[in-house]
Amino acid sequence: MNERRQKRTVAPAGNINGSLTPPGDKSISHRYAMLAALAEGQSSLENFSSAADCASTLQCLRQVGVAVTQEGDRVEVAGGPFSRPREALNCGNSGSTMRMLAGIMAAQSFACQMTGDDSLRKRPMARIVEPLRRMGAQISSSDGARPPLLVHGRPLHAIDYKLPVASAQVKSCVLFAGLLAQGTTAVEEPLRTRDHSELALRAFGATVERHDMRVTIQGGQQLRAIKASVPGDISSAAFFLCAAALFQGSNLVVDNLLLNPTRSAILDVLAQLGLEIRFLHVAERNGEVVGSIHVRGGKLRGAAIRGATSALLIDELPVLAAIAPYSESGVVIADAQELRVKESDRIAAVASNLRAMGATVEEKEDGMVIPGKQQLHGATINPHGDHRIAMAFSVAALRATGETVIDGSECVAISYPAFFDTLDKLLER
Ligand code: S3P
Repeated sequence: MNERRQKRTVAPAGNINGSLTPPGDKSISHRYAMLAALAEGQSSLENFSSAADCASTLQCLRQVGVAVTQEGDRVEVAGGPFSRPREALNCGNSGSTMRMLAGIMAAQSFACQMTGDDSLRKRPMARIVEPLRRMGAQISSSDGARPPLLVHGRPLHAIDYKLPVASAQVKSCVLFAGLLAQGTTAVEEPLRTRDHSELALRAFGATVERHDMRVTIQGGQQLRAIKASVPGDISSAAFFLCAAALFQGSNLVVDNLLLNPTRSAILDVLAQLGLEIRFLHVAERNGEVVGSIHVRGGKLRGAAIRGATSALLIDELPVLAAIAPYSESGVVIADAQELRVKESDRIAAVASNLRAMGATVEEKEDGMVIPGKQQLHGATINPHGDHRIAMAFSVAALRATGETVIDGSECVAISYPAFFDTLDKLLER
């Protein structure tokens, strides 16, 4: 991030009360923007995510000649042919932008460079380079398979691909490349991951089939523009749901919330921990389940999160870990080694910041063991430039003794620019 380093103080607080309408979902916003750029006609996307990551996607699309206009939270994207960018596509901090857009760039008739910030340039890209090369793409990188990537667009051919890691970004990259390739591409995932790309492709008029863990798409299908409203981001709402779970008297309504079952495992875990959750209203929009929920705080029991659940909860694990010490019987997180290659090494970042607040935590290669019944104290938190770490520890700070300082709090804008304002509004002090 270019913004100056900011410090934010979070004081201990009480219940979380009121109502929350989270910003548009980041994962869906990326996909709608990219597919709108490939579609025939002008798409209108309401409640588009305010995340800096999604602004990176829009900027990259503009760089390849796509007409994108934005007014408030409405984004209009005119689909059309892409043109060779003058400069490297700057994906900022966004792994989703780089991985998914690479699948589209690999099929163009020009070469482009894709780069990002210091964090993104450390993240593994072999996972997309390998399948794209199998499809006929030519991709090089000066640093093994880390960004910057040089993508020479070429005609692609279909592949039948078994994903070695459970990653929705990689699945999406291959599906988007498959849409532009000759033949029928199949992707098989080892564990179920978020299915927004499959649903979005269908919303834009493509046929995508799923049989169990295998998704297929036929190349050469023409997408058609859509008018859509993006459901509220459940991974952003998760910070306030976890904050509510910390206090027995919390009473919070969340409206326009994404309830897609591949994203809503956080609700199951919070219910297991003791949060009372009532569904007020549920509907479907463009294949995505959306609704309102009402939550009330309860006892914070304990939980063990492993296997398929860890993959579904990957973005919510930092905040679950941050509230874990306050639980009755503690929280075990396993099978979550992917956390080590996110915007920061999230296992190390969570463990070191929990320790700074006085907690005992056992760090494992694929997760952590956090005993319950611990009282944390305020501390200076180093979020390592990672938005989800900054927000997770702002939540942990609410039940600590003394004040906590988030040193480098500006990074929350990567996914949730209004996070601190919303926190102020919902807090009872
Ligand atoms: C995302 C998938 C996840 C997630 C990321 C967004 C997506 O990454 O952590 O924040 O939109 O597809 P992986 O698919 O690499 O696990």
